[in-house]
Amino acid sequence: MWPFAKAAADPVIRLFTPARAGACAAIHAASFHRGWSAQEIASLAAEPSVLAHVALDSQEKTALGFSLARHAGAEAEILTIVVDRARQGRGLGRALLQTQLDGLEALGVSETFLEVEAENAAALTLYRKLGFEQVGERKAYYAKPGAPAAAALILRRKA
Ligand SMILES: CC(C)(COP(=O)(O)OP(=O)(O)OC[C@H]1O[C@@H](n2cnc3c(N)ncnc32)[C@H](O)[C@@H]1OP(=O)(O)O)[C@@H](O)C(=O)NCCC(=O)NCCS
Repeated sequence: MWPFAKAAADPVIRLFTPARAGACAAIHAASFHRGWSAQEIASLAAEPSVLAHVALDSQEKTALGFSLARHAGAEAEILTIVVDRARQGRGLGRALLQTQLDGLEALGVSETFLEVEAENAAALTLYRKLGFEQVGERKAYYAKPGAPAAAALILRRKA
């Protein structure tokens, strides 16, 4: 096979393993004001109530994004979802979130919640396209240096 064909192959989504924690922490830190350390991500992902997936390049060498969700009975919460900044806008976030939602449904989850900054257009578009609807709002929730605090929206998706 031509190497070009292989390089162009689609990313894959796999269950998270601790070996990916460092790369995931770097991806998280590049997108969030307060990043999570590799240790924090590994500890969270190791909790029995947490479902964690990682997006990898087609050769499964490089982490491109990850998502963590906590579930309890029929309810779950997306704790985080983030895609490498250089790979955003190419369908990876959608694939990651859909995989998480499918996995949660298989675990018996029928309602999934999440919290998102009201000004996060990319995330809001993704969530709405996958069936999330707003069920609450916390005004002035996210402090922003040098700018007014942004509202947090609470979204819910029913399976
Ligand atoms: C939110 C995030 C995970 C989305 O991942 P992504 O790979 O960029 O998103 P996708 O390419 O899968 O796009 C999903 C949908 O959102 C839309 N979208 C993507 N980026 C967008 C943007 N900047 N503005 C508006 N809509 C956007 C796309 O049109 C797409 O819809 P489609 O599938 O019908 O075309 C990614 O932008 C990210 O990591 N952001 C930083 C971290 C973050 O904010 N996480 C969410 C915290 S609540």
